[in-house]
Formats: sequence, C-alpha cells, structure tokens
Amino acid sequence: MADTVWWKSGTVYQVYPRSFQDSDGDGIGDLRGITRRLDYLAWLGVDAVWISPFYPSPMADFGYDVADYCGVDPLFGTLEDFDALVAEAHFRRLKVILDFVPNHTSIAHPWFVDSRASRTSPKRNWYIWRDPAPDGGPPNNWISNFGGPAWSRDAATGQYYYHAFLREQPDLNWRNPEVRAAMHDVLRFWLDRGVDGFRVDVIWHLMKDEGFRDNPANPGFTSGQAEINRFTQVYSADRPEIFDVIAEMRAVLAPYGDRVLIGEIYLPVERLVAYYGADLAGVDLPFNFQLIQTPWNARSVAELVVAYEDALPPGGWPNWVLGNHDQPRIAARVGAAQASIAAMLLLTLRGTPTLYYGDEIGLAHVPIPPDRVQDPWERNEPGHGRDPERTPMQWDDSPNAGFSVGEPWLPLSADAVARNVELQCDDARSLLTLYRRLLRLRRDYTALSTGGFRSLPSSNAFVFAYERHDADTTLRILLNFSASPQTVSDTGAYGGAWTVLLSTHTDRASSLHANDLVLEANEGLMLIRGWS
Ligand code: NOJ
Ligand code: MG
Repeated sequence: MADTVWWKSGTVYQVYPRSFQDSDGDGIGDLRGITRRLDYLAWLGVDAVWISPFYPSPMADFGYDVADYCGVDPLFGTLEDFDALVAEAHFRRLKVILDFVPNHTSIAHPWFVDSRASRTSPKRNWYIWRDPAPDGGPPNNWISNFGGPAWSRDAATGQYYYHAFLREQPDLNWRNPEVRAAMHDVLRFWLDRGVDGFRVDVIWHLMKDEGFRDNPANPGFTSGQAEINRFTQVYSADRPEIFDVIAEMRAVLAPYGDRVLIGEIYLPVERLVAYYGADLAGVDLPFNFQLIQTPWNARSVAELVVAYEDALPPGGWPNWVLGNHDQPRIAARVGAAQASIAAMLLLTLRGTPTLYYGDEIGLAHVPIPPDRVQDPWERNEPGHGRDPERTPMQWDDSPNAGFSVGEPWLPLSADAVARNVELQCDDARSLLTLYRRLLRLRRDYTALSTGGFRSLPSSNAFVFAYERHDADTTLRILLNFSASPQTVSDTGAYGGAWTVLLSTHTDRASSLHANDLVLEANEGLMLIRGWS
C-alpha cells in the first residue's frame, strides 16, 4: 500500500512574500496578496504553500532577522490576515508551511536587547558571548556566511557575540534549555493557529562546537568564491549534538498529527541524509539541493539521482529542489529550452518536489541596477547577491505585471508583458501548461507521486532515462539534456508497447511507431506501458 501522507505525495510551492502579490500598493507583496492568489495555486495543482518569513523584522535580511516570532510585520499585514490566509488555504485543500528561523534573531529582538545590556542579564546566556582573543580580536576564525568575521564586539560589555550571518542576526544559544523551551512555544503558537508544518532555516547551524575551535583552512578555496569558503565549516555547523535538538522539535510537532518538518541543509549527500535521524527521528525532509549544485547534463544528473536514492536510509522519503530565494533561477542557469526538461525532472523523480514561485513561467534573472540593490550580501560581497531571483511575480500585462499598483521593491523583468501567468495559462505550449499537466499527472498516477524508481541504462550520453512504477502502472521518463535530437535504442522496444503520456513538446503524436525512439532537441517524454 502506498503511504499517502500529504507531504509525501504532495508538492510544495515556495512564496517569497515580498514578491508574490501586493495588495496595498506599497510595492511590497503581503499576506492579503497571497490570499488573493490562492485560487491560482489551487488551479496550478500544488498541495502546500511555504511562505518565507513575514514576522516583525527590521528587514536587515528581509525577514530572516526576526524581532518577534509570534507576530506579523505591518508591511505584510496582521495576525488576522494570517488567520484568514490559513482558512482560505485550507478551504482549497492547500497546506500552509511557515519558515521557522531558530538559529538567530534580529538584533532588535527584546531577548537580544536584554542579553547585550550587561554580563549579568538574565538573557545573557541566550546568545553566544565570548571574551576577545588575547590580541583583542575575535575569539576564533569563524567567518560570516555574508563575508567578514562572524563575531562582533559589543562595546557595552567588551565581549564578542557570534553571528553566522549579518551582525544584525545574533545566533541564539541552543545549548541553553530556556532558549529551547521558548522556541518550542513559538512552534506551538503557530501549530495552534493551524499551520501544517515548518521549513527550518539553516537547521544544521544550530549547534556549534562547545570549545569554539578554529575551522580548518579549505584547500579548495579559490578567490572567486564567497569568503565563507576560506574555511571548512567543521566546528561552526553540523555538530553531532544537533540531532537531540531536532528530536525535541519533532516531539513538539508529534501531538499535532501530520505536520511536516523540513530542514534547510546545504551539505553533501552523505551528511545530508544523516538529518533523517536515527530511526527517522530527524526532520521529515532534509531539503535536497543537489540538483542546484550539479552540472546540468544527463550523466551528472543521472549519477546524482542514483547516488541520492542509494544513500537514503530505510523509510527516508526523498525530496528535490530546483531553486529558491537564495539560488540562481533554474531558467537562468539552464536556459529557456532546458527549463521544461527541468520541470519534467523535478516533477517525475521520486520524492516531494518544491517549486519556487515564478519558475513555472520561466522567470529568469532580472538585472539589478546598482542603485536598486537590496540584498545585504550583494553590498558585502558584490556578485553574490540574491536580488535577481527575488523579483516580482508576473501575473498579467497590466502595469507592474499585476504585482502592485505601486513601484515594486525590485524591478520586473523586461519581458513581463510577454511572460506572465495570464498569457501562459491559455497557451497549450507554455511552460506553465507543462507544469500544470505534470502536477495533474502526479495526482492521477500514484506511480508518479508515491511509486518506485528505477534508473534505466542509456547508451546515449545526452539522455537520462528512468522508470516510475506501482502495482498498476509503469511509466518511463526520457529527458534529452541536449539541444539536438537524440536516438534512444537500448531501453527496450518502444513501438506499440508504449504510449506518450506527455511530451515537453506538447504537439507530439501520442503513439510510437518505431522501436528506436527519437527525442527532439530539448525534449522530455513521459511514456506509459500499453494503453494505446
Ligand atoms: C537561509 C535563508 O534561506 C536565507 O535567505 C537567509 O539569508 C539565511 N538563511 C539567514 O537566515
Ligand atoms: Mg504591500
């Protein structure tokens, strides 16, 4: 029997709230805007919406610097707006996943204000304070993920506090049981309001080495990389104690039933899968970003998929991600023609897919003029900024693509009039139609949503071929990663026995006549056995 818990069979759609839909004309997306667009998400056929942070925040890192974990920033609306969003989402059978940011708060959080006030403050030990090194410098060599030292000296007490990200984002001390209890209360606050799960920000960072040892130099570091890569993050993240912390979070969720815990984790596959935890006591889904980091060719992707499948612990449910608010857009990385191969791959691999808003219409990178840069990382380390993948959703050909009646906080792409939801939704050949049909097929065929996976041998180095199956149905997926036609002759006799269920080139005939299969340039095919 297939296990049909919603977060296994379903599909997650990430909304970056500043950029999805503005409802009040300030040029910044908001909760009411998201609610207005829930019909779109239901129409598209996704199952859950993950909303990046909307909590009160000075917005030094656009909401990933939280000043109150149990509220809504006025920019985004009110708690009532949030409750309405959840009710409207649930009415449409859409789940709501929140972004939980436990590693650090904002410098403006009352806990930190208290903590920094004096060495004897009751909240002192809620954050990570250390004496200066003997030379007066930072306590160790740890680097901020956004460049520069990860320690800032606080004049009031002469000690340094640790921040894995901006100096405006002090790390909480997860060794302190009071911190854990307070953060568990935060989880319960939102669970009681009806949320269906959490995506946990940088979960592998929560525990740091107790002795604060220096990280070792990274021999592979090259000058074009962000400064964080100068050292291997051996002591500042991915510490063994993290698994107790995660097990405790799970225990908080457990009485609430089928809620999901997703962990944001950038680690190699063998470390990543450790986050399922012993006896699956870890996160339900350790976000798998491997597709983002693997070269885009059939062989590398095929090897990755097999390696990942092999590495999964028994019962560990896979998942796949092609993009998010921190990563280059998939259409920018692989080009418009391959974006449809990416769509078919994401939605036909075994495991829960996460879609990033706008990827379904092929949004690419929007060039950001220097005077419109928003991301603090771009200011610290030019070239590493994430604004190009955070630009407003393009809905229609009205002013500002229907995103806002005001000036959008980031520019729209120049092709907004030609690339938008309204145009693509009625176009049988559009990327949006392809996404929608793939999502529909996932609902129609449990072979796709929860069935097994088998990689097929392929003598053609440009084609990745695999099978998805359950007791009733066998599907074959063949993806041409190249810009020229490719013949597949070694995966079996196709003539007669297989029917085209879907091609990324939607005008292809459904029946196959020859035993050799010729894929068109940049074509992906989904075939079903028999049934012609
Ligand atoms: C990961 C988030 O996805 C990213 O946007 C943020 O800057 C860092 N965590 C810090 O919270
Ligand atoms: Mg607004």
